[in-house]
Amino acid sequence: FRTFALEEERLTSFLPRKWKVVVTGCPTDCAAVKLHCLAFTPARGADGTLGYNVHAGGGLSDSPRVADALDLFVTPDRVTDMVRATLQTYCDLGDFEHKAVNRFRVLVHQLGPERITEELRRRLPYEVPGAGESLWTGEFEDHLGVHEDRHGSHVVGLCIPMGRLTDEEWFEVARLARTHGDGGVRMSQRQNLLLTGIGDVDALLREPFLDTYRPEPDQFERAIVACTSAPFCKFAIDDMKTNGRKLIAHLREHVPDEGRERLEGLRIHMSGCKASCAQVQAAQIGLRATMTKDEEAYQQALDVSLGGDLGAGRLGQWVRLEDTIEDTWDSVTEILRAVCAGELTLDDVTPAGVGAYFSERGSDLDG
Ligand code: HEM
Ligand code: SF4
Repeated sequence: FRTFALEEERLTSFLPRKWKVVVTGCPTDCAAVKLHCLAFTPARGADGTLGYNVHAGGGLSDSPRVADALDLFVTPDRVTDMVRATLQTYCDLGDFEHKAVNRFRVLVHQLGPERITEELRRRLPYEVPGAGESLWTGEFEDHLGVHEDRHGSHVVGLCIPMGRLTDEEWFEVARLARTHGDGGVRMSQRQNLLLTGIGDVDALLREPFLDTYRPEPDQFERAIVACTSAPFCKFAIDDMKTNGRKLIAHLREHVPDEGRERLEGLRIHMSGCKASCAQVQAAQIGLRATMTKDEEAYQQALDVSLGGDLGAGRLGQWVRLEDTIEDTWDSVTEILRAVCAGELTLDDVTPAGVGAYFSERGSDLDG
């Protein structure tokens, strides 16, 4: 990519204000494909060649949008050309005067996926076939746990709650990777770690590190993604990693054990401001830091969104604004209790589903 950047100085000097590309070989959606400006997902072309289908126009922050699938198929050697054609399209047609709309998704939204596809084709030096047979399910996956790889060894996904380790723990990760595996450590989109090429899985599972950073964590630990936030991010209104730990403790205490298996696939994403680094709108429950005030004082608060499900092509919607942190913990607890009791499913955790559930009981979310 660096070579490409040097060659194409003009293009890379006139990027939109943010530019995110994903190339995934995985059949599941472990990369949040639909939230990217440009994405390549595994597909088979008409002649049986393996390559990628192309998606464009996803993004979050102020004006979130789910990417459209384009009618294009590229072989791996043509991915760079497609990225170049996309940047040329943005350079030629994008809005560089107004920062608020200086994102590729805005152009895709304005022109529509068919016109964008035409513009890309016009800027490629060869004919590009239409989309191939998709080998991508779009289903949510976090890759935690023990999985056999193609070589007879294993990949072990460890849950790193809040995605934060100390420097000493990183050295321990390196030791584990070298002692038990092929030395490979992959960082996942959900802030977890995958150790690759593991020979003796049982020996790895006996390591004390895995008592804390577990391949089979509980559903609450597994659900939470928290952004960098305070004290390391200058935009942060609050420290979402600490809030995340507090929420896990609260849920462990207040959600009954019975029925917790119904929480499999739960996602709770927590961002410290509107930038959405933790992809709040991709979770069934999204929490975003804000402030609230009464007659006497300001205090930290949270906005709550419900219903994000990229597999269903749906972003979460904001249902509560400026709730106190305590009220928010209680609301989340009530929703998850209802799921554990079988009164709601995770698919019902949407504004409509949760709204109907609480109004039948004569209360609102925190009532
Ligand atoms: C101190 C650290 C960070 C700062 C200052 C920061 C800043 C920002 C800003 C300003 C935006 C809004 C972009 C826009 O409006 O177009 C943004 C969006 C985003 N950031 Fe971060 N970020 C930080 C860390 C991270 C990390 C660690 C990740 C993930 C690994 C991340 C993932 C994202 C994502 C997914 C978005 C949404 C992009 C979109 O709108 O499509 N950020 N970030
Ligand atoms: S969401 Fe906001 S607070 Fe969190 S890391 Fe991104 S910019 Fe910082």
